Amino acid sequence: MRVGVLTGGGDCPGLNAVIRAVVRKGAGVHGHEFVGFRDGWRGPLESITMPLGIPDVRGILPRGGTILGSSRTNPFGVEGGVERVTENLHRLGVDALIAIGGEDTLGVAAKLYERGVNVIGVPKTIDNDLNATDYTFGFDTAVNIAMEAIDRLHTTAESHHRALIVEVMGRHAGWIALHAGMAGGANVILIPEFPFSLDRVCAYVETRFQAHYAPIVVVAEGALPADGGAAVLEKGLDAFGHARLGGVGEWLANEIETRTGKEARTTVLGHIQRGGTPTAFDRELATRFGLHAIDAATDGDWGKMVALSGTDIVRVPLKDATSELKLVTPELYAEAEVFFG
Ligand code: F6P
Repeated sequence: MRVGVLTGGGDCPGLNAVIRAVVRKGAGVHGHEFVGFRDGWRGPLESITMPLGIPDVRGILPRGGTILGSSRTNPFGVEGGVERVTENLHRLGVDALIAIGGEDTLGVAAKLYERGVNVIGVPKTIDNDLNATDYTFGFDTAVNIAMEAIDRLHTTAESHHRALIVEVMGRHAGWIALHAGMAGGANVILIPEFPFSLDRVCAYVETRFQAHYAPIVVVAEGALPADGGAAVLEKGLDAFGHARLGGVGEWLANEIETRTGKEARTTVLGHIQRGGTPTAFDRELATRFGLHAIDAATDGDWGKMVALSGTDIVRVPLKDATSELKLVTPELYAEAEVFFG
């Protein structure tokens, strides 16, 4: 069988570990041939390929990013895009496609499956917001990077008696903010799922200063104040219609400074959360996802995504994974709230 592999959407530590496992087991155990598609869906859309054999995946396990490149190209947003993808797959003799991506990339995969393309999905996102899997790889790395930043900010915040705000990624879901904030001992965690009261945030900041410590506020980029106000700057739309976010941290620092009279500064972690080498957890999870994805393709179990359920890797329908996002529940947020202020 000739198998195409692509990585789409925002990159994520562990992508190379998946590619390596798919190719090592696929070529080494099942005897498949591989073709790498460059830059997400742009690869099959424009027929941009690269060789993908065992020699090409040597040494990539600890490397961040993706050797295949990535993009947010959406074939369903391009005139005749779907027809071009299917024609190119046919012309290149590709029997199966392994798509490694988040909600958008896998959403395209689910729709292509309905049009007869033999596709298997692998869940990827630092945001951990994909339904039907307990965790996505990349999340653990992002959380550890954010936690280390919070640890470092504590000491400088104390030295200067400042409130420090840390803006982390998380457009619709606050998983990174929640986990990193809890692990790093943040004094307030603000996430998109639960609009926040600025008065309460300022009260937590004051309480923390009264206890002779300096507050650390962790805010997800998609968090919004309950009483309105244009906290988040929208910087245009991507090919899937998502706004590029940013600015809530800076906005919050200004509001805190004005309302409490205490100096407040913001650190935006941005793409640092996505770059560099994956943690052991992410390497291992990504490797297992890769092994199980190529097994699913070998079995012809099309339209499925590999997923983590407890400690097992299972197969779930792609459409279940992409129909809705996995959000932080009120119960989980309440656990974090115990430590606010
Ligand atoms: O989709 C993952 C994500 O990390 C989001 O949290 C964030 O909004 C987005 O990527 C930003 O990615 P980029 O800067 O590549 O558009």
